[in-house]
Amino acid sequence: MARLIFDSTDEEQDLPDGSPCQEECEKHGIPFACTEGICGTCIVPVLDGMDNLSDPTQAELDFLGADGVKTERMMCQCKIKNGTVRVRN
Ligand code: FES
Repeated sequence: MARLIFDSTDEEQDLPDGSPCQEECEKHGIPFACTEGICGTCIVPVLDGMDNLSDPTQAELDFLGADGVKTERMMCQCKIKNGTVRVRN
């Protein structure tokens, strides 16, 4: 079981390992537009647990760069592998 924590409210959501992040992020106020890694609307800082997210997609690397994906991710592209991830919403 994986856990996504939303920093502004400290709300937590348990998800099966390997779940996409998008649906829960939308419920917690993170905006989405293209949902394809093109627009950057869904980029959020990852405050803790970056290693528990899936590897960055090519779309994320193209938009954020190799350094950018160390601190921020596109929530339309990420899956939570396991463990706990805290994002700023
Ligand atoms: S919603 Fe456009 S990049 Fe994620």
